[in-house]
Amino acid sequence: MVRSASAEENHKPLIAIFGAGMMGSGIAQVCIQAGYSVNLYGRSEKKLLEARETIKKNLIRIAGKKKADVPMEPETLEQIAQLQLQLLQIHTDIASAAENASMAIEAVAENLELKLDIFQTIQKDCPENCILITNTSSLKLSQMLPVIKNPALFAGLHFFSPVPVMKLVEVVSTEQTSEDTTQYLFEFCNEIKKLPVAAKDTPGFIVNRLLIPYLMDSIRMLERGDAAKEDIDTAMRFGTSYPMGPIELCDYVGLDVLQSTLKIFRETIPGDARFAAIPLLDKLVSEGKLGRKTKQGFYSY
Ligand code: CAA
Repeated sequence: MVRSASAEENHKPLIAIFGAGMMGSGIAQVCIQAGYSVNLYGRSEKKLLEARETIKKNLIRIAGKKKADVPMEPETLEQIAQLQLQLLQIHTDIASAAENASMAIEAVAENLELKLDIFQTIQKDCPENCILITNTSSLKLSQMLPVIKNPALFAGLHFFSPVPVMKLVEVVSTEQTSEDTTQYLFEFCNEIKKLPVAAKDTPGFIVNRLLIPYLMDSIRMLERGDAAKEDIDTAMRFGTSYPMGPIELCDYVGLDVLQSTLKIFRETIPGDARFAAIPLLDKLVSEGKLGRKTKQGFYSY
């Protein structure tokens, strides 16, 4: 039976999201905005409460932008956000987050062992017909298949940062993903107001296969001393109309994330010089300078 991703039925599908970082909380936000109930799992309650606070601030800002004859009072905006937030439950226990989920989306760190472990645990408690999704940006889905009980219900949804703003989602199918699952995921993306594109299970899918070499080349350009970081960024912003220059985008995505992505590419596409390690990137990461999130990367924030 083909199921519907619509959140407008009497029964609202429950989405379980594993990982309460930038990606997981962003996905949770767009899901509740579309009327889905969401269970958000995170390892620490502190991180989950921070994620809920960020989502609340975003919802208040978005409510404030809605056209109204009279501008809404802060209390009204807060009430609107609180109403939407009722759809969000936070969990520090994987089992209770997975229970009754129609779809389980993992958005944990880009580490294969961790993802395999999460999927194994989720499958002990989620319903048998639960769709299992990875938000990996660089790992191959085929590497996760060995732990997936029903490969027809397994696929990738690759969101982009910041999730509430970026329209695109890559819908990644393996050779074993069923057509019903892919169709459901396209419908789901439309429901959450995203633009889905179909991607195959190739390293980096579409966007990162093209974007990562570009970002890495910008770091190499800086490392060689060919140009200052500000000039590289200004050149690409105003020479190509990209919203951010490549060096500031590296800081935005996170230098640790880029370092592990580069390593994964190196392992999955051996011998490609574009994915060789970059001493300047390794140095910044080893110093704990991970970009915006640590207030220091190529730039200081
Ligand atoms: N969460 C929610 N909303 C956010 C946000 C966040 N983290 N950051 C910005 N926004 C919202 C702002 O509130 C603002 O909303 P309104 O227009 O509704 O008021 C809007 O986005 C624009 O923000 P700003 O005016 O503050 O700043 P900006 O115009 O410079 O835009 C930006 C900021 C959207 C981040 C923009 O610079 C941009 O698009 N940058 C490129 C981002 C990008 O390339 N992302 C892909 C990264 S690669 C990736 O994610 C894949 C991977 O696997 C590594």
